Amino acid sequence: MPFDPNRFVAEATDFISSTVGKGKAIVGVSGGVDSSVAAALCAKAIGKRAHAVFVDTGLMRKGEAQFVSLALKKAGVGVEVVDARKRFFSALRGLHEPERKRKAIGKEFISVFESIAKKRGCKFLVQGTIAPDWIESGSGLRDTIKSHHNVGGLPKKMGMRLCEPLRELYKDEVRQVARVLGLPKELSERQPFPGPGLAVRIMGEVTEEKAEVVREACAIVEEEICASWRQGKMGLPWQYFAVLLPIKSVGVLGDRRAYGWTVAVRAVESVDGMTAKASRIPPEVLERISERITRELKEHVNRVVYDMTSKPPGTIEWE
Ligand code: XMP
Repeated sequence: MPFDPNRFVAEATDFISSTVGKGKAIVGVSGGVDSSVAAALCAKAIGKRAHAVFVDTGLMRKGEAQFVSLALKKAGVGVEVVDARKRFFSALRGLHEPERKRKAIGKEFISVFESIAKKRGCKFLVQGTIAPDWIESGSGLRDTIKSHHNVGGLPKKMGMRLCEPLRELYKDEVRQVARVLGLPKELSERQPFPGPGLAVRIMGEVTEEKAEVVREACAIVEEEICASWRQGKMGLPWQYFAVLLPIKSVGVLGDRRAYGWTVAVRAVESVDGMTAKASRIPPEVLERISERITRELKEHVNRVVYDMTSKPPGTIEWE
């Protein structure tokens, strides 16, 4: 039977109302379509007893806190923004291995949510977890590919019960629900962003400096690809971003020797994120991205490469 988003909205609101009962819930929002849909469903199901929280980890997209607050306000959802940058960077200090990074982030998210839940008397945490998150986190169906922070990255003991209304959906279905709920287009059609944020786009140890560099590089990739798409020069890829490889290579900056990091540009075509193919970006667009990254981030980056790997054998994000 084809997916029916209207029917899903009715069933999901019933599910949230019966799970949360007369209680209160925190809804973790990240600016992505999954958590935005979860927040809109909660507002429909339990109204003001749902409290949406955006945690600024320092690893979010450029201008994200403001974007999320405004976009969700248009959808009738108020958002509390929590500045947790310091504690996330400190939890990540010294961690190089991807799974350890993901678990540290999952733990930090939960402790921020727990302290807000305690203050506000919330017994539930609503998350926008979707099917690929738990499938890839090792569901018994297959090996753990990566611990999505909202599944395999969760600590064993939590002071809140989880409520995950989108658990069985795939990204294309979530977008259909977002359209039916009337979410603004900038949310319903937004490209995916990983829950652990830019941490999985910085290979190895995360620092504030590297986060600033990759945030800016991601913004440049997004600006250039969207501009070319608006001008009809290319289709809009399913997902497009930059990855920071803190491997140094030699270059020239004016008449000086440069020794800087590498940025990998990644753009993919996919339906649900479970498989993907590298997008065929016009060479002049790639050239402009490379030129802007090496000019605007010249103190850090002197080389830009394009990732042509499919999923499988690669994954979409690098960690
Ligand atoms: P991968 O890298 O596994 O990514 O091919 C598939 C899709 O999922 C996003 N992604 C995540 N989303 N929590 C999320 O909510 C995570 O931990 C996470 N890791 C990857 C990724 O951006 C891509 O769209």
